[in-house]
Amino acid sequence: MLRRILPHSGAAALRAAIPTQTSRTLFPCLHHTTRNYSIKAPHAASATPPGIDIDPSKLIIEETKTPGKLQNPEELVFGKTFTDHMLTIEWTQKDGWLNPQIKPYQNLSLDPATCVFHYAFECFEGMKAYKDAKGQIRLFRPDKNMARFNKSAARIALPTFDPQAVIDLIARFVKLESRFIPEKRGYSLYLRPTMIGTQKTLGISPPGSALLYVIASPVGPYYPTGFKAVSLEATDYAVRAWPGGVGDKKLGANYAPCIVPQKEAMSRGFQQNLWLFGEEEYVTEVGTMNFFVAFKDKKTGQKELVTAPLDGTILEGVTRDSVLSLAREKLVPEGWKISERKFTMKEMDEAAQEGRLIEAFGAGTAAIVSPVRHISWKGKLVHCGLKDHEETGELTMRVKNWMEARQYGDEEHEWSYICN
Ligand SMILES: Cc1ncc(COP(=O)(O)O)c(C=O)c1O
Repeated sequence: MLRRILPHSGAAALRAAIPTQTSRTLFPCLHHTTRNYSIKAPHAASATPPGIDIDPSKLIIEETKTPGKLQNPEELVFGKTFTDHMLTIEWTQKDGWLNPQIKPYQNLSLDPATCVFHYAFECFEGMKAYKDAKGQIRLFRPDKNMARFNKSAARIALPTFDPQAVIDLIARFVKLESRFIPEKRGYSLYLRPTMIGTQKTLGISPPGSALLYVIASPVGPYYPTGFKAVSLEATDYAVRAWPGGVGDKKLGANYAPCIVPQKEAMSRGFQQNLWLFGEEEYVTEVGTMNFFVAFKDKKTGQKELVTAPLDGTILEGVTRDSVLSLAREKLVPEGWKISERKFTMKEMDEAAQEGRLIEAFGAGTAAIVSPVRHISWKGKLVHCGLKDHEETGELTMRVKNWMEARQYGDEEHEWSYICN
């Protein structure tokens, strides 16, 4: 309790020194005599004034007068080309969410003192829109992305929003950009919902204004010529996330520090780094993907698909959740065990040496699944079950097919959201 740390007179002096609105947001406990609960992230957010949430019926659309040329789908490079328009929604502390707009894709104009540049008030999402066999556009589990977006925003005192309102607006946006979505399997429109604090201030306080925007980039298959298994380097000199930290949120600030370890891994010939945690060397995530491994039990021989648990150090991947759900649906009847539990590099190494490591793969929106050949750890290579001539294991391939069937609407499922 702050009261115990701060003498009473000290608390009063602090309260007098800061404006009431700010003090209420930053130090809610100063306004109460006791605080018998921990502050949870949703309560740390600057609340949207009631009744002033995003209203899709107020959408204003300004179409571009200079539509861009479509690129040859085979030449698309991830995140390099963008569609004609962007969706923007501004927020202010006083007026809440303002009218949404779809307008020509354009630069933002921000004062150099804008808080996003100094204190990283930024969070984002990554999701895709797919064209099905009938030409309908589909989003994949957008409710999951919006829930995570809200959690990320709340944690850095950016405003939260009505998720269905933003899904409706994204659906309008992607329909307008329909021509950019190639009608071929493996192709999609990558969507980047982003939120930034836009207040001009060097003061460290909850932003008094924010901008939510969505841009879109047509993308091709991650593995255009079929799967290519990757080699990983286990990173033991840096950690991506830690208990009580923000590694389970999609904050831009989590990503820049990951580039050096990735560069290091690449300099030694590995495509990605594998994030470990703690002296036990728990396996957490691979690059910017969740990580799955399939073991055979030492005693019973039962197959087990394992991924790290959501303990606050793992990003709650939409693909991770989908793979777990599909595995429970399809693999459990085949006798598999599906586990969200901690596992270590030592456990993987032992299983590999005993021929019990069946396969391993990363899972995320960009690639769906990414098969792993081996992991460099403590000066040796831990082999992840693939034969030299194989680029993927059977399970990884099955997971990809199950996922694509629902993303592209081959299998009608509640996860697929048709943009009507
Ligand atoms: C750190 C991290 N882990 C996992 C994922 C996979 O999440 P998703 O399946 O929602 O794309 C991502 C990608 O967004 C990520 O950045």
